[in-house]
Amino acid sequence: MRLDKYLADMSCGTRSQVKDLIKDKRVKVNDEIIRKADYQLKDTDTVKVDDEIISYVEYEYYILNKPAGYLSAVEDNRDPVIMELISSKRKDLSPVGRLDKDTEGLILITNDGQLNHDLLSPKHHVLKKYYVELDKDLPENANNILSNPIEFEDFTSKPAIYEKIDNKKAYLTISEGKYHQVKRMFEKVGCTVTYLKRIEFGTLTLGELKIGEYRLLTEEEIARLKELKNENI
Ligand code: URA
Repeated sequence: MRLDKYLADMSCGTRSQVKDLIKDKRVKVNDEIIRKADYQLKDTDTVKVDDEIISYVEYEYYILNKPAGYLSAVEDNRDPVIMELISSKRKDLSPVGRLDKDTEGLILITNDGQLNHDLLSPKHHVLKKYYVELDKDLPENANNILSNPIEFEDFTSKPAIYEKIDNKKAYLTISEGKYHQVKRMFEKVGCTVTYLKRIEFGTLTLGELKIGEYRLLTEEEIARLKELKNENI
């Protein structure tokens, strides 16, 4: 990889700013000042700016407990977006799928485009579990309706896993991710969703993360997510 790309990818500046860093003799490779922006780095090279090691991190994986009021987007002119909650040097991060603006809970954010694509692909059936609160009592036939395919104008949902908590609360686990899917499924049983939170995504769970908090995934969590897509083809 070129030295200027390496430094720009690690947010040491824009491509032209990092060229200036190089010209100003502030960049070393293996403790030698390098003055060429197109210098080709080897995997084993150690890069320093102002004598501080700059390690190359190719992919980053974050789990965020999304607060209501934020869009699952990278930027927006009007509303706050979840990316504002993550402080990362990488500029190419994006959410894996979407939660509605008023939905809370688990959202994965990464710059691993392949994994992002694979986890959303319908052929992988990644399970998503939601905690749901409703405006009125769940009817007796809710399980029957939700655990069978439901026909909507634009798609037919796959059978979901319905777990009643009490008269107005339930968990619903679905394998697709259509627009407003959980809200629309509960409309079919005659209830309106008043609060929605995603608590699981594939092998990931929210755990102790509080609203608005995020953390990097562990190596093990990343490996398990990658395995997931192989299991469900
Ligand atoms: N289903 C919905 O209705 N909304 C979400 O945000 C996620 C799933």
